[in-house]
Amino acid sequence: MQTRDLLDVDDLGPEAFRRVLDDAHRMKASRYRGQELAGKTWALVFEKPSLRTRATLEIAVYELGGHPLYLDQRGIGLGEREPVRDVAKNLERWTAGIAARVFRHATVAELAEHASVPVINALSDRAHPLQAIADAMTLEEAFGSLEGLRVAWVGDGNNVLVSLAKALGYLGARLVAAIPEGYDPPEPIPAEIVRDPAEAVVGADAVYTDVWTSMGQEEEAEQRRRDFKGFTVDLALFERAKPTAAFLHCLPAHYGEEVTEEVAYHPRSRIFDQAENRLHAAKAAIRHLLGAA
Ligand code: CP
Ligand code: NVA
Repeated sequence: MQTRDLLDVDDLGPEAFRRVLDDAHRMKASRYRGQELAGKTWALVFEKPSLRTRATLEIAVYELGGHPLYLDQRGIGLGEREPVRDVAKNLERWTAGIAARVFRHATVAELAEHASVPVINALSDRAHPLQAIADAMTLEEAFGSLEGLRVAWVGDGNNVLVSLAKALGYLGARLVAAIPEGYDPPEPIPAEIVRDPAEAVVGADAVYTDVWTSMGQEEEAEQRRRDFKGFTVDLALFERAKPTAAFLHCLPAHYGEEVTEEVAYHPRSRIFDQAENRLHAAKAAIRHLLGAA
């Protein structure tokens, strides 16, 4: 049986992405509660920590009438206590779907390959599709259509950027990413890559940054602090964007590194809207994978 999975935004393609986004806006407008998952369980397999992704997936499953089953790495030993394939072949017998947050993208891809139920990537080293849906929602709330919108990324060429770029590409926004030499994204993305943060930010409608050191890269933190010098989104840099520009960050933030508190809590910061929208994005993603939207 062909299963629908969401490993990254391009598993949807532009039309389905648009449908999921519209559904997410509807989910939010009505604070939707449904019965799509009545009597069913959705497994949440997490190899690393999470606030937003775990909370919003749990609440989304609950508000769709289902039971979220949280399984952490210490408990199940995905790929250690037993092979990833066997975990997939077990979970498919009990659940309607799986969301997995993993270190290596190959792990979530392997779960998707072997599970007959839908698999959502709840963040891997390569992609963060639920974040991209919520971010597109947030930008649409702020600006209406994203057609022609100029978004600046300042920082690491990481998982969040890869998914964001694909989403913005579908919606007709222009993304300019300022990334230090040596930290380009792991795959080609629809964005212009520059080395100077100011070049990316000048005239931008939105400025987005993320941590310099992602989960799993902690040993590189010192080196990264050196390599990302000059990439802090402080007020001086943010003010080079349009006077109407929004500030975005997927959170958690390392204040004083990629962003100052002044910018994160700026009146035009949308960081908590992004977090709020993660719930509606999660519901829309699950509904799409169930064929309900
Ligand atoms: N933005 C995000 O995915 O946050 P968590 O790591 O807390 O889930
Ligand atoms: N790039 C960050 C995002 C966290 C939501 C990480 O992977 O740790």
